Amino acid sequence: DIISKIIIAIDGYSSCGKSTMAKTLAKAIGYIYIDSGAMYRAVALYCIKNQLIRENPIDLEKLKQLLPSICIGFKSNATGESETYLNGINVERDIRSLDVAQAASLVSAIPFVREAMVKLQQHMGQSKGIVMDGRDIGTVVFPHAELKIFVTASPEIRAKRRFAEMAAVNHNITFEEVLANVIERDNRDTQRKASPLRKADDALVLDNSYLSIDEQFQWLLNAYQNTIHTT
Ligand code: DC
Repeated sequence: DIISKIIIAIDGYSSCGKSTMAKTLAKAIGYIYIDSGAMYRAVALYCIKNQLIRENPIDLEKLKQLLPSICIGFKSNATGESETYLNGINVERDIRSLDVAQAASLVSAIPFVREAMVKLQQHMGQSKGIVMDGRDIGTVVFPHAELKIFVTASPEIRAKRRFAEMAAVNHNITFEEVLANVIERDNRDTQRKASPLRKADDALVLDNSYLSIDEQFQWLLNAYQNTIHTT
């Protein structure tokens, strides 16, 4: 019995555990996981490395000119985890820094960058069988995705999770700083002109404030099974 493959779009706020959910689901059902945020982060890293970005102003002319020569892709490592490549170099670790996150948030607001990334993402989803997470996957990249999930959790809960992660490496950081950062990013993600974060009308909402990782996974697996039995 051949089950046809679908596209699963997972959107939501930053630090709400989207990528963990998306990765776990993809692995369980034999789908490819694509981290669309990693692509904006890779462009941001490129801008930093090539001095196209100094604080806020980005050299838009130069970026526009160089963008077609930026090659972004994913490859699985030895343990089967997908890792991000920029012009053939593994940048998975480099793109996770705070500097890059900051730059990615600027870069992802530029319409011509979004246009290029969306094209690439659509190409990656051509043969379906993918779980992609981001901000505009169910609204812009795959408006016809068979399954769309919109993940939320309260800012306090997300800040608490992030603080626990960050405090392990940076002992000077306070919970208030992390909370302020979460709220600031929410505002930027939802208020920007180009493809702001918004729930697609046909997305299922998952508020994971009080769910364990396993409970989230069960919820998601159930949503997937219901979808394939009705499509
Ligand atoms: O999810 P993340 O933190 O890795 O995303 C990095 C940045 O890219 C963040 O500022 C949100 C933005 N982004 C976006 O605008 N659209 C997406 N589909 C994914 C991420």
